[in-house]
Amino acid sequence: MRVLSGIQPSGKLHLANYLGAMRQHIELQDGNEGLYFMANYHSLNTIQDAPRHLELTRDVALDYLAMGLDPSKAALFRQTDIPEVTELAWILSTVTGKGLLDRATSYKDKIAKGISPSMGLFNYPILMAADILIYRSDIVPVGQDQVQHIEMTQDMAGYLNRSVGREVLKRPEPRLNEAFIVPGIDGQKMSKSYGNTIDLFDPPGQTRKRIMSIKTDSTPVDAPKNPDTCNVFAIYRLLATPEETAALEEEYRRGGMGYGEAKKRLADVAERLLGPAREQREKLMADPDYVEDVLCDGARRARAIATEVMADVRDACGLATGKDTHR
Ligand code: ADP
Ligand code: TRP
Repeated sequence: MRVLSGIQPSGKLHLANYLGAMRQHIELQDGNEGLYFMANYHSLNTIQDAPRHLELTRDVALDYLAMGLDPSKAALFRQTDIPEVTELAWILSTVTGKGLLDRATSYKDKIAKGISPSMGLFNYPILMAADILIYRSDIVPVGQDQVQHIEMTQDMAGYLNRSVGREVLKRPEPRLNEAFIVPGIDGQKMSKSYGNTIDLFDPPGQTRKRIMSIKTDSTPVDAPKNPDTCNVFAIYRLLATPEETAALEEEYRRGGMGYGEAKKRLADVAERLLGPAREQREKLMADPDYVEDVLCDGARRARAIATEVMADVRDACGLATGKDTHR
């Protein structure tokens, strides 16, 4: 199966980005053809400071590699290294009704938050569809918030296929994971725009501090507690083994354990994951040439597919001249 996904380099990555997106990407690199990219055309909608944009893009690459992406298995690349994506986005925009984009909930949410709408933000789902369709991807692992975009991608593949009279694009399927919505330290959805995140690569003391400040209710230490409504437990179960989860659940229900103890356990399982990753990231930071080589190699692999699919799309649309001036 060809698996594709992307992460916008629009800020420091946090635990919910990992649990809701990146962890699945890394798991799926085994036994599949993985294509993962930094969506830096997308993040242009929010990041307009050039040096910062370069740094954030590099940071997401470092995060992927430090968390376990293996470049000998999956291709890791920058979206902007595949210019065919923007060409396909244009072609898709010619067969897509404006009404489809008017229904995009993530656009509506952003407008409701007072973000002023650029055409880039409005056209976001078309660019995202092009990202997916340019590689004839089979599976797109994403969080719940992106499912509507995948459904729109399926629609757009259908529009173009119908318009040209053949299956030039492949219909992809979304793949959701168990981390439905990871809470932040205040109990709302963890998101960088709410300032409630536990970042992946803070110094260890800071991560522990953030975990110790997770909001809990005021059930006394001795009383039984409900793991199903506890923010600490909601994150713990995503990081701990099934045995560890069952053991902590039992202690919640029995009573006699305070939330402080549960937070300490959460900090320990988080450190088990993040400690080695932090070390790995330090090593990668000291070797920028290696990271650049990984990204160039990833782009070469991805572009080989994209140029072929794009040639087929041009042909199907009556845009191919017979002379290959694009390579
Ligand atoms: P943020 O809300 O911090 O800006 P993004 O919107 O950039 O995060 O999210 C990138 C990806 O990380 C999303 O597509 C989603 O899959 C995942 N994600 C983000 N926040 C959460 C969350 N609280 N729970 C689960 N997954 C999340
Ligand atoms: N929109 C995704 C997000 O904000 C990022 C993204 C861009 C993406 N292109 C994609 C995800 C293609 C999957 C496939 O999280």
